[in-house]
Amino acid sequence: MASRIHPSRPVLVEPLAPSDLAALTALSQAVAWPHRADDLSLLLALGRGRVARERAGDDVAAGVAMWWPWGEDAATLGMVIVDPARQGQGIGRRLVEAVLADIGPRPVRLNATEAGAPLYAKLGFRPCRVFRQHQGDVDVLPAMAGARLAEPAERAALGALDAAAFGAPRQGLVDRLLAEGEFHVLPEPAPARGFAVRRRFGRGQLIGPLVAPDEAHAIALLEAALVRGFVRIDVDANASALGARVEALGMSVVDTVVEMVRGDWPGDEDPSRPRRLALAAQALG
Ligand SMILES: CC(C)(COP(=O)(O)OP(=O)(O)OC[C@H]1O[C@@H](n2cnc3c(N)ncnc32)[C@H](O)[C@@H]1OP(=O)(O)O)[C@@H](O)C(=O)NCCC(=O)NCCS
Repeated sequence: MASRIHPSRPVLVEPLAPSDLAALTALSQAVAWPHRADDLSLLLALGRGRVARERAGDDVAAGVAMWWPWGEDAATLGMVIVDPARQGQGIGRRLVEAVLADIGPRPVRLNATEAGAPLYAKLGFRPCRVFRQHQGDVDVLPAMAGARLAEPAERAALGALDAAAFGAPRQGLVDRLLAEGEFHVLPEPAPARGFAVRRRFGRGQLIGPLVAPDEAHAIALLEAALVRGFVRIDVDANASALGARVEALGMSVVDTVVEMVRGDWPGDEDPSRPRRLALAAQALG
């Protein structure tokens, strides 16, 4: 379908609404991102954002930027997309500035693509970590590890573990992932010290978040969560043993994003907290 976006008309920056799912889907497809409508529905349900339109109420958009509040003291920013016909005209900067104004004083974290990083650096974000996007067709599964599936009754404990690793509470996300995916935990005395979530995403399955006390536990959780077919996982580049195991299982690196932060992210200096070794999604951290 031909784009209805005009290459030079001025745009309005308006709040993103649940009815913008189709516009969000079109923008994601325009830059060849893999999200299914269900993946975008999850992002819309938990987040807020701004959309650039040529006319108020238009059902197509020239660009979007989203953010997700995590408790009162943290936020992630993502799904920043400008229609390729409208890039380089300042729309991305306007959208991100509007979202930063909406976010207010909370510290903000994001995962920057190569295209987005220069804009975020200009807006005061500094790089803190690198995540490697691994994906591929898995055809041989490792011998079954002794993990088990988490029970719904563990939701609060899993939420607390995720919050300790992430630095801010994400119970709404954890509950949604419990409903849509599978939480694999090691069969150690409760409460669990780590988990790997697998859910449908994009072209196949996605593993993440992956939280563990160390890489050995992370590898056991990864192996427990793995299935045959197309699998994606975005791994902390510092976790070299985990990254090597992911590669060996058939998921090679297809892209790299730089995690950037603006402000002081809660708990970032605490070495005793569990490690967040794979992302829930690049947009969610
Ligand atoms: C990233 C993206 C949203 C930027 O949107 P845009 O409307 O083209 O960006 P703008 O025109 O507002 O330009 C943003 C700023 O980045 C600067 N910039 C862009 N590419 C740059 C580069 N390679 N080096 C230095 N600066 C660069 C621009 O000069 C501009 O700076 P200025 O405002 O000080 O003049 C757009 O390229 C896009 O949708 N890319 C594909 C999806 C994507 O990767 N999104 C980012 C996810 S993190």
